[in-house]
Amino acid sequence: MTTLASGHKASLLEGDEWTKLLEYFPNYKDGITRLSPGGWVFTKPYINFADRFYNFEFRKDDVLVMTWPKCGTTWTQEIVWTMRNNPDLDHPDADVAIMDRVPFMEGDIFSPGEDSTEAEQMPVSEMFKRLCPNADPRKGMSLQLAKALLDPRTLKTHLPFSLFAPSLLEKTKVVYVARNPKDTVLSYQHHHKLFKAQSFVGSLETFVDYFLEDKLVYGPYWLHLKEAWERRDHPNLHFVFYEDLKADIMSELKRLDAFLGTGLSHDQLVNVAKHTSFGEMKSRNNLFINKDMFKNEAIVNQDVLQKDGGFFRQGKSGDWKAKLTPELIEKMDKWIRQKCDFGISFK
Ligand code: A3P
Repeated sequence: MTTLASGHKASLLEGDEWTKLLEYFPNYKDGITRLSPGGWVFTKPYINFADRFYNFEFRKDDVLVMTWPKCGTTWTQEIVWTMRNNPDLDHPDADVAIMDRVPFMEGDIFSPGEDSTEAEQMPVSEMFKRLCPNADPRKGMSLQLAKALLDPRTLKTHLPFSLFAPSLLEKTKVVYVARNPKDTVLSYQHHHKLFKAQSFVGSLETFVDYFLEDKLVYGPYWLHLKEAWERRDHPNLHFVFYEDLKADIMSELKRLDAFLGTGLSHDQLVNVAKHTSFGEMKSRNNLFINKDMFKNEAIVNQDVLQKDGGFFRQGKSGDWKAKLTPELIEKMDKWIRQKCDFGISFK
């Protein structure tokens, strides 16, 4: 057991629970850790990075996009970055991978270990070489890039508030995105089937059970939401629903404009809406440094890619109505009533 700077205790999953998890998620074989309190679940390397996330030095011009996985992070990252840097669609770095412009703070917990041969083979982006000329990429590129990025930084995380220092909102602005859990779980299942590193090999029913029992990587979605919901009146927190972004992007961009203080014109907001639309982001497909990785069978399941789509899968709200059985809907509704009883209502 390891005690972290946040006060949480981290221990590795063991015994039956670990054996069972490996049956469904065989590629998490290097270890999974769970934190107490909270029950947050991460890949094993999180333990080595946790204190660096907790003590991360935020700057006053930073904007941190925070969500649980699959709630529309990538979309929001691109919206915020474009509003702050590229509202006239003429920025020279606009085609650089999103991950490079808006680093994924804890991305290194999914990277191969420092001494492995895979770490040697990881593609090193031009942005990393430019901003971190003396850094060793095998020590993890995401956090080093996040530190080295020039102001104004836009950063992304799936970590919850409680794993950052309590001063976070005093130091920086946070944009938090929530999504209906029924769509979130479907999108997360797709992610786990698409990417070989996650590689889920069970039924939808099993995946939903893992979600409802807080056992998926990142852990309890309800608690993640609750921590943000409780802070939603803080002037440095902007709380938004994926469904509202979908329903009325212009109104949401105006709200964001006021929060970020970007002062954009109507035409500039129209530019942002168009540039970050699902269709345009899907065709640019520049989330990752290496676009060709989607063709690599070792990284991406080609059958799932062909049948169900890639990272930019559907980009819709309400997919659950077609995909979840009445039994699963009932189970999820019960979970929502019991766990999400802090005032939030999903759209
Ligand atoms: P679906 O799997 O339901 O399509 P995240 O970025 O947090 O991983 O979230 C991914 C989800 O956001 C996926 O949902 C993805 O398709 C959707 N998404 C990505 N870009 C989008 C956009 N520009 N507009 C709407 N949805 C988008």
